[in-house]
Order: sequence, then C-alpha cells, then structure tokens
Amino acid sequence: MRVLVTGGSGRLGRSVVETLAARGHSVTSVDVAPGPEAAGIEQRVADLLDNDAREAVFAEARPEGVVHLAGIAVPFGRPDTEILDINTRLVWAVLSSAIAHKARSAVAASSPTVFGYNTEGWAPRYLPLDEEHPVAPWHSYGLSKAIIEETVRTLVRGGSGGCVLSCVRPGYVIAPEEWAGAPTQLGHTLLERLAQPELAAGSLFNYIDARDAAELFALVVERPDQVGNGQILHAIAEDPLATEPLAELLPRFHPGTAGLAGGLTQGRAAFSSGAAERALGWRPTRQWRTELHGWDA
Ligand SMILES: NC(=O)c1ccc[n+]([C@@H]2O[C@H](COP(=O)([O-])OP(=O)(O)OC[C@H]3O[C@@H](n4cnc5c(N)ncnc54)[C@H](O)[C@@H]3O)[C@@H](O)[C@H]2O)c1
Repeated sequence: MRVLVTGGSGRLGRSVVETLAARGHSVTSVDVAPGPEAAGIEQRVADLLDNDAREAVFAEARPEGVVHLAGIAVPFGRPDTEILDINTRLVWAVLSSAIAHKARSAVAASSPTVFGYNTEGWAPRYLPLDEEHPVAPWHSYGLSKAIIEETVRTLVRGGSGGCVLSCVRPGYVIAPEEWAGAPTQLGHTLLERLAQPELAAGSLFNYIDARDAAELFALVVERPDQVGNGQILHAIAEDPLATEPLAELLPRFHPGTAGLAGGLTQGRAAFSSGAAERALGWRPTRQWRTELHGWDA
C-alpha cells in the first residue's frame, strides 16, 4: 500500500520507513530535514505546518496509510510554548489531511510521558502501567501528547470518513546505532544509562528498539480492521532498562510507587503493551541484554 511517514528522517522515522519499504509498501517520507536516500523510499522536504506544502505532499503521495511522527520529540527540548504549539497543530493538520485524502488508516506517535511520572509526589494507581491507566501530564511535552490522543478521539467523534485513527506510545526509542554505542536522545550511551540508574529512572526504565516499534506502526496502518478507532497502543519492551529489579529501583527514585512495585521482580517492566498484542499479535522481539554491544552479563 502507499504509506506516508511524517518525521521520516528522525530517530524513529528512519526505522519506520525502512521497515515499511521492507514489507513491500510504497513509502513517502516527509520531513523538514532531508532523509537518507534508500531504495523504495520517496523523500520529500516540507514543513507540514505550511498548508500549501502539506497539501502538495498529500496530493502527490495519495497515501492509503499515514504514520505521523513529526514533531518536537524531547521534553524541554524547546521552549514549552513551542513544543505545545508545534506538536498539537501538527497532529490536527496531518490527521485532517489524511482524512481529506481518504487514507484508510492514520496513526500518531504519543508517549508514555502522558502518565506524568517523574514528579516528586507521583503515585500510579497500579503497576504495570497499561493503556487504561489514567493520564496526568505535568510538562508541556506530555501535555502535547495527551492533546494528540484527545485530537484523535475528537476527529473520530467528528466522523473520520472511513479512516481508522489511532495512537502508539513508544517507549524510550533505541535506534540501531545506539546499541553499538552512539549516544541516545538525552545524550548518554546505553551503557551509561545502565551503570547510572538515575539516568533511566526518569522514564521508569522503559525503552523500545526502533525496529520493534516500527513493526507495530506498520501493523497498525496495514490492518485498520483490527485496530479500534481511537485506540491507544503501547510499544514498550517487556523488560526494563536496568540491571536491578524495579521492585527495588522504582521506590528508590519514585517513592510513590512503594507498595505497588513489589511484583516487578527481575526482568519485569513498569509498562505493559498488552493492547498491541491482543489487537495485532505484536510483541517486541529485541531486548537490551542481547542487543547491546559491550554488555558483559
Ligand atoms: N524518541 C523517543 O524516545 C520517543 C518516545 C515516545 C514518543 N516519541 C515520539 O515519536 C516521534 C518521533 O520521535 P523521534 O525520536 O524520531 O524524534 P526526532 O526528533 O528524531 O524526529 C522528529 C522529526 O520530525 C521532524 N519535524 C519536526 N517538525 C516538523 C514539521 N513542522 N514538518 C515536518 N517535519 C517536522 C524533525 O525534522 C525530525 O526529523 C515524535 O512524535 C516523538 O514525540 C519518541
């Protein structure tokens, strides 16, 4: 099928376009930054907040499926008002274009930061966090993602014209080169994040291999009949990015989890991705213990 990927030059986008092309799709990647040339992938440079430019890309690509990843991807990576403004305007614009151009499916990237962890008093209702757990963002990035999810529901209520709209919440994305030692999005290597648990504590030790997340984005656009309109799916590894069990680590860094974290014994993560497994049979296949170069178990 014809698939348009926004933000296709980014850390996650590069794996998404490669995965879609490898699955036989005709892929157009659109980004303000140029992407790497690769067989089977049309690269377009455009600012998707420019109405004329966005319309031209959609008219040319005529997508049957849309994966919307473009945006500001890091909390506090830009001034708060810019993050909120760019991410929320982009999602409305891109998903509305998908509907107008009669795509059958469109999925937007949200984030587990919607749960609002990493504040002093944060206390979940239960662990592991699943797609049903209430959201309560506390920073501009998390709020922008909560609004992205509400935008999906709003467009569904307004009638999405046969286009199935959904959101995927990827964990902390690990691009292939990062397993080999390249810095991750917050600047530290994976070996540093493992050696200093305070670095990964801010994300509750979640992660996902970019190619595993890409497989889920591909399944979501390929099989809209198996995805509920407005559905939220986690794409998070089943184990935590930590050498110690979360039963010990979580209460140390997030005192409000004491009493709930006891069941998170060695190898058990603070998140579940059960909705993606139930809807699409997706489970992550790559774990840090087998992927990470230089890790000596
Ligand atoms: N990286 C993670 O750990 C992570 C975790 C959860 C969710 N996400 C979400 O996944 C998506 C992709 O994340 P990423 O890590 O690949 O980010 P990234 O910053 O590497 O890629 C985002 C891309 O969007 C492009 N972009 C921004 N504004 C644009 C615009 N107006 N028009 C066209 N392109 C534009 C950027 O040039 C960039 O290439 C984002 O929505 C992010 O919030 C990422």
